[in-house]
Amino acid sequence: MNTRIFYILLIGLIVSLNIYLFVSAPPPLESSVSVKKRFAINDIFEQLALENDATRTLYTKAIVGAGKKQGLSFDERWAEQDVHAGPLPALFLRGISNDISETEVPLDLFLGSDFPIESSNKFKGIQAEKFAQMRSDKKSKFFFDEITGKHIAMFPDYASAMPCVTCHNEHERTSKSDWVLGDIMGATTWAYPEDSLSTDDALKLIAAYRRGVKNTYLQYLKKFDATELNSKPEIGNKWPSQGNFLPDYETFSDSVQKLVSPAILSTVLKSIYVQN
Ligand code: HEC
Repeated sequence: MNTRIFYILLIGLIVSLNIYLFVSAPPPLESSVSVKKRFAINDIFEQLALENDATRTLYTKAIVGAGKKQGLSFDERWAEQDVHAGPLPALFLRGISNDISETEVPLDLFLGSDFPIESSNKFKGIQAEKFAQMRSDKKSKFFFDEITGKHIAMFPDYASAMPCVTCHNEHERTSKSDWVLGDIMGATTWAYPEDSLSTDDALKLIAAYRRGVKNTYLQYLKKFDATELNSKPEIGNKWPSQGNFLPDYETFSDSVQKLVSPAILSTVLKSIYVQN
């Protein structure tokens, strides 16, 4: 090759390489990672609803349903000292809700309906309107309540087990006696004053809910400390479906965690992104 042409090509190559390196090359990659600092309250409401569904269904089927077959009783007056019975599912939820209200976490939990057994559980105002919509579209509702200044999420509460249906239909104070399996019987309603929250505060909401489950469940197990019961269930790692047993809190909670942990992990992992 002609040396002049060779040098011209070489200089051309060096010039264009410099233009690439110093003018148009992308900036060097930084190896930093950051985690989203805030969660939308609605994402956390969804988590809570999932955990509450798992807890409620497990309690209704495996403790109330199977426990009754072992001779355990469940009563509206369960919290009274001389009543040797466990909480009905709705009162288990009420126990959780009361316990949350004793923490500094400003989270409210309520289970209501349009045809309640207990008249104070009837939805009112904007919640009644949103519940009427839920009856027709079967979708969860997320909205801001101007009157209370709180963000609200309402999730359908389904008749997921036969005891829900029979007990409500036959209850002496029922306002509807033709519920069937799969019906929306009411809605679990959550309220929180902020529309977003830090990772710490988000985890605190979940922890407050779990504290409520723990304290309510332990309050139930404490009933069996009374010695006058002659057929006390053995409390440990077995379930009423296996005989005269009741799971201790750890066993109960492990079962719930197995159902919900993958979803919680995925919500947290979804919030991590690599920053270039
Ligand atoms: C053994 C009886 C019994 C069983 C089982 C039962 N409930 Fe209830 N439920 C009640 C009673 C009693 C209340 C009212 C408690 C209160 O607030 O004083 C209630 C309250 C409710 C409420 C609030 C509105 C209302 O009726 O006052 C909803 C919603 C509800 N239950 C749904 C369910 C679902 C869903 C299940 C099954 C997962 C279920 N219940 C299982 C007896 C029962």
